[in-house]
Amino acid sequence: MLPIHFAPLQGHTDDVYRRTHHSLIGGIHRYYTPFVRVEAGDIRSKDRRDISPKNNIDVPVTPQLIFSSLKELEYLTAEIEALGYHSIDLNMGCPFPLQARHGRGSGLLAHTDIVSEVSHFIQSHPHLTFSVKMRLGWDNAQEWRPVLDILNDTPLAHIAIHPRTGVQQYKGDIDYSEFEQFYDTCRHPLIYNGDLTTLTQLHEMEERYPRLAGLMLGRGLLCRPTLAVEYTEGREFTHEEQIRTLRTLHAKLMEQYAQIVKGDAQLHSKMRPYWEYTEPLIGHKPYKKIMKSGNLRNYLAAIEELR
Ligand SMILES: Cc1cc2nc3c(=O)[nH]c(=O)nc-3n(C[C@H](O)[C@H](O)[C@H](O)COP(=O)(O)O)c2cc1C
Repeated sequence: MLPIHFAPLQGHTDDVYRRTHHSLIGGIHRYYTPFVRVEAGDIRSKDRRDISPKNNIDVPVTPQLIFSSLKELEYLTAEIEALGYHSIDLNMGCPFPLQARHGRGSGLLAHTDIVSEVSHFIQSHPHLTFSVKMRLGWDNAQEWRPVLDILNDTPLAHIAIHPRTGVQQYKGDIDYSEFEQFYDTCRHPLIYNGDLTTLTQLHEMEERYPRLAGLMLGRGLLCRPTLAVEYTEGREFTHEEQIRTLRTLHAKLMEQYAQIVKGDAQLHSKMRPYWEYTEPLIGHKPYKKIMKSGNLRNYLAAIEELR
């Protein structure tokens, strides 16, 4: 059985979500914070709350950093280290044009000069453990080759690969042919990430690629938060159990967000995105009802009907 990593998902897997998922459901080897970046010379206060150790007590979490230069990486690493973290994940995969066009995330993959600087930086910080989460490239599925040559000579805990390019965003086919070449070339423990939504798929990946060191799940877990624990416990939950757990998780999240945001309208807009990826589990009609609920009252009534 492979360790399951919960992929970072900006706007979804914040500290409240990770804490609640971990204590209520579990099955996750490691969580990652959505990327932390430099904005106007500082870390945003929202991100500071997310990475604050007091908000992550007893949760196995690694902060993820996104950066376009060695200077940004140095600043962010010092801040993270000062909080007491020893493991850091580096984002080389984000496809959001706003980040990628500034050379961050998958936009960094074309800049092997900066990747080399990052490699030296990692080598000069042996007391910290770094990992990398990356794509095949920005607009070219071969861009990973010179990058992996550098990373293979860099001490890393693992590489997580999402085998798409940045311009594909989250759609289009996964490139298994490039992935297999990546799998054969990578000298670090390798974690596969992308489109895993069922127990059968998890078992298939395990069998098809026996040298994998783990699986990373994102949208599949947002839809079915029990997927990892079903895999680790070796028992498929019934549809009813899955829905019940989804609703309990939702109720616990709402309880906590109600203390953070003010008023019903804000609470509604905070909670609604929670359901964004749940259509395959809850069905089209209930999904539409929640998405079009308009206010907190209709929203709660729609959830009440879920079976
Ligand atoms: C809404 C959204 C936000 C995301 N935020 C991040 C992020 O902050 N850092 C990151 O490395 N990847 C981010 N990702 C990518 C996911 O971590 C993951 O690589 C991607 O969703 C593919 O995995 P999946 O098919 O299991 O969802 C995000 C994806 C989505 C859909």
